[in-house]
Amino acid sequence: MHQLFRRKSLAALLRESETGERRLKRALGAFDVVMLGIGAIIGAGIFASIGTAVAGDALRPGAGPGIVLSFVLTAVACAFCGLCYAEFASTVPISGSAYTYSYATLGELVAWIIGWDLIIEYAVGNVAVAIAWAAYFHQLCAGIGLEIPAWLAVDFRSAHQAAEAAAETAGAVEPSLALAREAFATAPSVLGTPIIFNALAVGVVMLVTGLLILGAKESARVNAIMVAVKLAVLAFFLYSGLRFVEPDNWTPFLPNGFRGVWVGASLVFFAYIGFDAVSTAAEECRRPARDLPIGILGSLVVCTLIYIAVAVVLTGMVPWHQLGVADPLAAAFAYVGADTSAGIVAVGAVFSMSAVLLVFQYGQPRIFFAMSRDGLLPPYFARVHPRFRTPHVTTLWTGIAVAAVAAVANIDEIVELTNIGTLFAFALVAIGVVVLRHREPARPRTFRTPLVPLIPLLGVGSCLYLMLGLPWVTWARFGGWLVLGIAIYFSYGYRKSRLRSG
Ligand code: ALA
Repeated sequence: MHQLFRRKSLAALLRESETGERRLKRALGAFDVVMLGIGAIIGAGIFASIGTAVAGDALRPGAGPGIVLSFVLTAVACAFCGLCYAEFASTVPISGSAYTYSYATLGELVAWIIGWDLIIEYAVGNVAVAIAWAAYFHQLCAGIGLEIPAWLAVDFRSAHQAAEAAAETAGAVEPSLALAREAFATAPSVLGTPIIFNALAVGVVMLVTGLLILGAKESARVNAIMVAVKLAVLAFFLYSGLRFVEPDNWTPFLPNGFRGVWVGASLVFFAYIGFDAVSTAAEECRRPARDLPIGILGSLVVCTLIYIAVAVVLTGMVPWHQLGVADPLAAAFAYVGADTSAGIVAVGAVFSMSAVLLVFQYGQPRIFFAMSRDGLLPPYFARVHPRFRTPHVTTLWTGIAVAAVAAVANIDEIVELTNIGTLFAFALVAIGVVVLRHREPARPRTFRTPLVPLIPLLGVGSCLYLMLGLPWVTWARFGGWLVLGIAIYFSYGYRKSRLRSG
């Protein structure tokens, strides 16, 4: 019992990250960190998931033009949690994100649970981004006359479901199902089973993995270029789209009442995930105590303003129920007959999602790395490449796992699972801030969350509220994941922990 709540000493943590063979290279400044945040945030959420959130589908009511309120609601929740993350990150500036903060404050068991939960945010989240990337890339190639077979751009189950839906409705499928249906119709078959898997998603994940093994600074530079491109493309969307806005499209503003806004908010939460990812780079920052709060809050504010503007223009361009497609921003231009603009936006989406993949594939291995350094995972995972100074073992295994799941998974289910796991982690971080203030009021904090405990409690409440907007099956999957994690802890980490062995 004592061990379950044993905490790592902060002094030891800092020493460990500063010295020894397992030290990472300190190469990032404040600008790199804000870029890293924006790189993680703007991606599949605003380019893809917004479509389902606005239009809804068989399982969820759409928010309609009220999606603007969903974005505001979610931004408020993220701001509460972002303030807590910033305090934690500036107090415990060590790689590993919420996992490390909680090891120093809440004890080993909670730290393990958070670390395990963060796999859902980073690795599972990246599965969703890779799938959305594949759909956009496939369409982009088709736009320039390069036909990639559909059966290499979707998963088997989505294709199968789309084919069934097509049979039921005698061919009149939703546009979002078109790619999956085409895959089923054209796939080669072996022994009567169609061969369908998402080779595009696998390819992009492995490419990003290779880039990351080569080094953090090099990758941050690539990321900065991608961020510039995505900001330019969203600016282009706003500027060009404004001309096509028909104010009539904004009524009815709430076609499914506030329930649509709530369910929409728990979906578009995905679009905000990532502002916390910058904290995983603490050991590679030159001045983490200053740069991390700037990175977290700065990138959150920028992205919120952009999302609200995009939502207003998008729902003004197209009647809300027409937006249930895989590429809503490009489709909006196609709807008003501006095909060139649609193409430009599609290119931007591919770039944006590549940047998201990069940051999340960067974060996950560093969490595994920290867990392994603490003895909660085998020491094999804490190896650092002798020349590149990157955690190459965990980077490679994360790449392989994400690619394998992305080859066969369904995007909606993955987005919902990512959201519930991330919201849970955010809530635990908010609780952690309150606990740490109570236990160690004198500890130096470069950044202090205002109005503690009010802000953290509002953070917990708003996370719970968004979690409740997700279907029960997502809750069941998440529960199963936590049970598996706890079983692994008691059969490995509990015995091998470096804190236990002293
Ligand atoms: N926020 C990230 C995205 O929208 C995960 O893709």
